[in-house]
Amino acid sequence: MRVRAATPRDVERIAAIKVRNWADTYSPLLDAETLRPFLDESAQRQSVMEKAALPGTLLLVAEDEHRGVVGFAMTYLTGPEPWMESLQVLHEYRGHGAGTQLMRATAAGLLSRGHQAMQLGVIVGNTAAARFYERLGAELVKVEPVTWAAGVSHMVYRWPDVVVLTG
Ligand SMILES: CC(C)(COP(=O)(O)OP(=O)(O)OC[C@H]1O[C@@H](n2cnc3c(N)ncnc32)[C@H](O)[C@@H]1OP(=O)(O)O)[C@@H](O)C(=O)NCCC(=O)NCCS
Repeated sequence: MRVRAATPRDVERIAAIKVRNWADTYSPLLDAETLRPFLDESAQRQSVMEKAALPGTLLLVAEDEHRGVVGFAMTYLTGPEPWMESLQVLHEYRGHGAGTQLMRATAAGLLSRGHQAMQLGVIVGNTAAARFYERLGAELVKVEPVTWAAGVSHMVYRWPDVVVLTG
């Protein structure tokens, strides 16, 4: 498994991973109407393509030599502090270190660009992901409603210094 910067050729696979993961992780947590746009693969492809093209986006993929890209991490470096928008590893590859490697490589990418802190949101109820981030040293900052759906809240986690992820 290696982590590398995404290229335009990865967009289709990244969108497919995102859709599969939203279906398996969030269908127990979100209602069908909220979930629907996130299960539309062509809309997600368009969205990933647009976000990846922005100069302030860090998009990394985890690639298995036999199976290709199995996960990705997308982080926005603009705004008051870097915000990890998405970390997704395909179901059958979870628990093998890809997520941790993506976090590590994202941290290295932030540090090399002069950033120290990072935040992200975990939808309330996604306790496995919350545990994963806590184990990696994140601090729970607050719980607040998300901007993209009514009646959904996320837990905001923060690393004051992402150097702890690179250790
Ligand atoms: C959270 C996630 C990115 C972690 O990636 P990963 O490759 O499984 O992570 P690693 O292998 O480096 O670390 C595994 C740890 O993650 C945690 N974990 C979280 N969700 C998990 C899952 N569905 N399956 C296996 N492990 C999971 C476990 O606690 C595991 O700890 P352990 O090694 O003590 O058992 C991945 O599980 C995933 O894509 N989950 C679904 C989508 C999601 O919730 N993304 C985060 C949105 S905020």
